Amino acid sequence: MKRRRFLIGTISAFAAPAVVGRAQVRTLSSGKLPIPPLMEVGEEAGNQLAAIEGSHSFIAGTEARVLGWSQDHLGPTLRLRRGQTARLTVENRLNEPITAHWHGLHVPGRKDGGPLSLIAPGREVENLLDIDQPAGTYWYHSHPHGRTGEQVYRGLAGMLLIDDDNVSAGDLPHNYCVDDIPLIVQDRAFSGSGGLQYDDDGMTAMQGFRGDQIAVNGALNPVAKVPKGLVRFRILNASNSRVYVFRFDDDRSFHQIAGDAGLFPAPAPRNKLHLAPAERAEILVDFSNGSIASLVSENVPVQMMGGMMGGGMMGGSSETASAEGILQVLRVEVDDSLPAAVAKLPQTLGGAPIPDFGEPVRRRKFQLNMMMGMGMMRGMFGGRPNLGINGESYDMDRIDQELRLGETEIWEISADMMAHPFHVHGTSFQVLSQNGQPVDYAKTGLKDVVWVENTAEILIRFDRPATKETPYMYHCHILEHEDSGMMGQFTVG
Ligand code: C2O
Ligand code: CU
Ligand code: CU
Repeated sequence: MKRRRFLIGTISAFAAPAVVGRAQVRTLSSGKLPIPPLMEVGEEAGNQLAAIEGSHSFIAGTEARVLGWSQDHLGPTLRLRRGQTARLTVENRLNEPITAHWHGLHVPGRKDGGPLSLIAPGREVENLLDIDQPAGTYWYHSHPHGRTGEQVYRGLAGMLLIDDDNVSAGDLPHNYCVDDIPLIVQDRAFSGSGGLQYDDDGMTAMQGFRGDQIAVNGALNPVAKVPKGLVRFRILNASNSRVYVFRFDDDRSFHQIAGDAGLFPAPAPRNKLHLAPAERAEILVDFSNGSIASLVSENVPVQMMGGMMGGGMMGGSSETASAEGILQVLRVEVDDSLPAAVAKLPQTLGGAPIPDFGEPVRRRKFQLNMMMGMGMMRGMFGGRPNLGINGESYDMDRIDQELRLGETEIWEISADMMAHPFHVHGTSFQVLSQNGQPVDYAKTGLKDVVWVENTAEILIRFDRPATKETPYMYHCHILEHEDSGMMGQFTVG
C-alpha cells in the first residue's frame, strides 16, 4: 500500500555570504534551487501537514525565525488526483490559530479552510477533499482573519497540484523536480541580522507589504539545473502584495500553457508574464540549444491612482531596486545529464477545460474600497487601516451575499485608488473583460484571481454549497488589504 511518498529535491545551500541590510538591493548567492518534497495525497490515511515554527537560513551565516508545514519553511508540494478523495490531516503546533485553505479547490465551504474554520493551537483536523476539477497548479495557505499576511509571509504556504489521468501528460514535461519545476516566488525583507521583517501598519498596509529580495522556494537568487529540452515551470506568486512582470534576461520567448485553474486550449506564446499575488502560470521554456538564461522581473512600482498624495507614485522607499529596476529571480543552467523527456512543443493541449457557464441570470457589483470613513486616516497615521468592499469592512458575523447553487452570474468588480487582485473561493471563473476591454479566454484560461486595475467582469458559478457557518470568501489577495477588511463572505445554497 502506498503511504506518503516523498521525493526529496535538492537542498538549498548558499555560496557567497553577504550581509544584507534593508538598503542593499541584491544578494549574490547562487545556491541550488530547493524543491519542496512531493507528497502524493490519496485516500489512504497517513498524510499530515503540521504547522510548525522553525529557523531557515535565507542569507548565509544567518538564521530567520519562520513557519512551515511539516518542514522549517513553506510546505511540501501536494499532488492530488482528479476523481479521487484526498485525505489529509492538518495539525497546529503553533501557539496561535491557523487555518488550512485550499486556494482554488472546488470544495464545499465547510472544507474550504476559510477564516471561520480556525484550527486552535494543539488541535488536529482531518480533511477529506473530493477532487473534481481541471488538472492544474493550485496552492494552500493559512487564512485566519487579520493574521493571513504575516503567517503566509513567514511560510505557511505551499503548492498543490491536481493531476488528471484522462489528460494525456505525455506531451508535456511532467517529471517533478526534473523538467516540471515548481517556483514559489515571494519577496522578502530582512533585518540586519538576517531575520524576516514584516509590518502591516499604516502606509505599509495601504500599499501592501513589499520586500526587496526575491525568494524562490525559500532561497534567494537560486540556480535551477534543467535538461536540454522543454522545461515546464509552474510559477506561483505567493507574495503578499508584489506584482511581477517576468521575462528572461535574453528575451527569449516561451509559451504559457496554464493559468490559475487549468490548461489553455493551446500554448500561448509570450515574452513577458504579468503575475499578480496568488495567480499561477505554467510556462514551457525551450532549453534545447543549451544556453543559460535568468528569469527576471520588472520591479513594478505600487501605483496609486487619483488624488491621494498628489496623485503620484508611491513606490517603496528603500526598495526601488537596482538602477535598471530589474529583480533577479532565478538563474537557469542546462545540465546535459538530466533526461529531457519532451523536445517538441505540442500544438494543442489535450484535456484542457472547456468553459460551460451557460447564460448568466444576474449581475452583482463589488466596489473595492480603500477609503472607509476615518479608517483610511487611521492608516495614514500609522495604525491598521480600515478597508472594505461595497462600503463594509469584513465582519465574520455578517453574510454579505447569498448565492444560488448552479446559477451563473456576472460579477463586476471595480478598484479604488490602486489595482487589486480579486480572488473568489470555491470555484474557478472566466474573465470577460478588464478595463472595458474583452479578454481572450485562450490567453487566460480559467481563473480564481483577476487583476482589477479599474474594472473587471467575470462569469462565475458555484457548484458546491457553503452555509453561513462556513461561508466562502471573496477578497483582495494583497494580504494586508485582506487583513484590513477588504474581504466579504457569502453562502451558496
Ligand atoms: Cu488564497 Cu482567501 O485565499
Ligand atoms: Cu482562496
Ligand atoms: Cu487590494
